Amino acid sequence: MQTLTTQVAIIGAGPSGLLLGQLLNRAGIDNVIIERVSGEYVLGRIRAGILEQGFVDLAREAGAAYRLDEEGAVHEGFSIAQGDRAHRIDLKTLTGGDVVVCYGQVEVTRDLMQLRAAAGATTFYHAADAKIHEPLSANSRVTFRYEDQDYELVCDFVAGCDGFHGISRQTIPQKLRTEHERVYPFGWLGVLSETPPVADEIMYCKSQRGFALASMRSNTISRYYLQVPIDEKVENWTDALFWAELRRRLPKVCADRLVTGASIEKSIAPLRSFVCEEMRYGNLFLVGDAAHIVPPTGAKGLNLAASDVAILYQALRRVYDDDDRSSLARYTEVALRRVWHGERFSWWMTNMLHNFGDMTVDGMAGATFSRFMQSQLDYYLGSENGRRVIAEQYVGLPYEKI
Ligand code: APR
Ligand code: PHB
Repeated sequence: MQTLTTQVAIIGAGPSGLLLGQLLNRAGIDNVIIERVSGEYVLGRIRAGILEQGFVDLAREAGAAYRLDEEGAVHEGFSIAQGDRAHRIDLKTLTGGDVVVCYGQVEVTRDLMQLRAAAGATTFYHAADAKIHEPLSANSRVTFRYEDQDYELVCDFVAGCDGFHGISRQTIPQKLRTEHERVYPFGWLGVLSETPPVADEIMYCKSQRGFALASMRSNTISRYYLQVPIDEKVENWTDALFWAELRRRLPKVCADRLVTGASIEKSIAPLRSFVCEEMRYGNLFLVGDAAHIVPPTGAKGLNLAASDVAILYQALRRVYDDDDRSSLARYTEVALRRVWHGERFSWWMTNMLHNFGDMTVDGMAGATFSRFMQSQLDYYLGSENGRRVIAEQYVGLPYEKI
């Protein structure tokens, strides 16, 4: 067994772990990242790419925004279409100046990986069997296996940044955590293609045939999604079928100008709302997807991960700079307050924009639920105050100081 020592052991090299690691590096707080798969594998997972101002500010503080500032596209608004009619949510005007930035999560991750490598900070990729030991004692440590060798990483704190399927959440005894979950009866079939996007801004489309989303990564790369049944298989969708169905769900003016091409990536993601109510267990802190999942309809997943990182980072700075551990006790409370806002917004947008067909929802017949949701959407889109409520949440609620 090889023993290593660090201040913060970070499990997972997704955006949460890498961003926290980068902030800690800049503050002179030693950290080691343990990741189960390879860096290339992490970068192969296509994820959303809408960044709130809070994310951009945090990336700047981490010194990780050099490419984001150069290449990220500022979006001053987005659209919600109902059938052929698109309603623009003018983020900038409605919020008094706030916008979002379109820059893929994969690129955020790539930038952070490069900075970490350049800083010479330790990352174990392909690390197997990570386990957290004694998070309640002064003898906290993480063990893992790397290249046929057993390692023990002795640390002050463990940041559980290992996503929804990681081991960190399971380390918190079940009786100490309450888990809230809603699984939606559909998934999103996503296609990435080297084609110019159908619109300059993101468009969420509600249609009789189900939801569709038109997004992009750049002027030459598009990202589209279709609502599909939960048990749908990606093999059933040729590119031709995908484009034909997308055309039917977009407003006619967009369908007419849609440019199609070969897909670079095609996958189905289930939709889930999930919150683990306890994000701390002694020296272990859950961050990002390890503690909560949102359906992608509000583009909040990465942004909620970033606010957790910001809060934990502040609390750790207090410990190491001021020898003050008091804010650690407020981590769960402060982080979850913002998480629940993001959960509520994503759940609300998902309910309003998807087609639940004749499925019973919230104890109501599908047809009844869909009338409520239709009326709700009409009301919010038809009122400037309603559009402001959407805009204010889309750009992201403020970060709370711990
Ligand atoms: N040991 C080590 N690493 C692990 C383990 C484990 N047992 N289990 C999971 N991991 C790694 C995964 O391989 C992954 O690279 O943890 C990482 C978690 O990354 P993400 O799932 O991307 O989670 P997070 O960093 O919190 O990012 C949140 O990503 O999933 C999206 O919508 C989400 O945009 C949000 C963002
Ligand atoms: C994406 O571009 O992948 C994307 C954008 C907005 C969302 C979800 C996904 O709400």
